[in-house]
Amino acid sequence: MGCYVHKLRTNIEQIHISTREIFLLANWAGIICKAQLGSTDEHRRGSHQTMAKITYIEHNGTEHVVEVANGLTVMEGARDNNIPGIEADCGGACACSTCHVYVDPAWVDKIPAKEDMEEDMLDFAYEPDPARSRLTCQLKVTDALDGLVVQMPEKQI
Ligand code: FES
Repeated sequence: MGCYVHKLRTNIEQIHISTREIFLLANWAGIICKAQLGSTDEHRRGSHQTMAKITYIEHNGTEHVVEVANGLTVMEGARDNNIPGIEADCGGACACSTCHVYVDPAWVDKIPAKEDMEEDMLDFAYEPDPARSRLTCQLKVTDALDGLVVQMPEKQI
């Protein structure tokens, strides 16, 4: 019986410590979250422009001009605005090539260069163009992309 009580007391003490640790962790996480929210707000306030206008042109010529928030990808801009023609089956992991577009020739040299992974994945895209093809999940929206025009292929894969 004594042993049982001792064990119970030990367990209660452990629970007490654990609860305190959880409380401290939650508090700590709250501070971190507030700090991150603060820096995001600061970034928004300090940022000259937080949206970029992007034109998505379907294969049939239908144009969709939307404002996409900086920090999202061009794929997410299409997805969030229900623009057809970009499927993004892998959710942006650069593992499916179904977010393929042709970048307007005027923009080819203005956007960041492809990483090796994107280059490799483009081999699986439908009729890729070595100069103009990009995976929209790999194109992060910034002020520099304001005015970007992309055209969807006839089909994805
Ligand atoms: S969403 Fe799959 S490669 Fe871009």
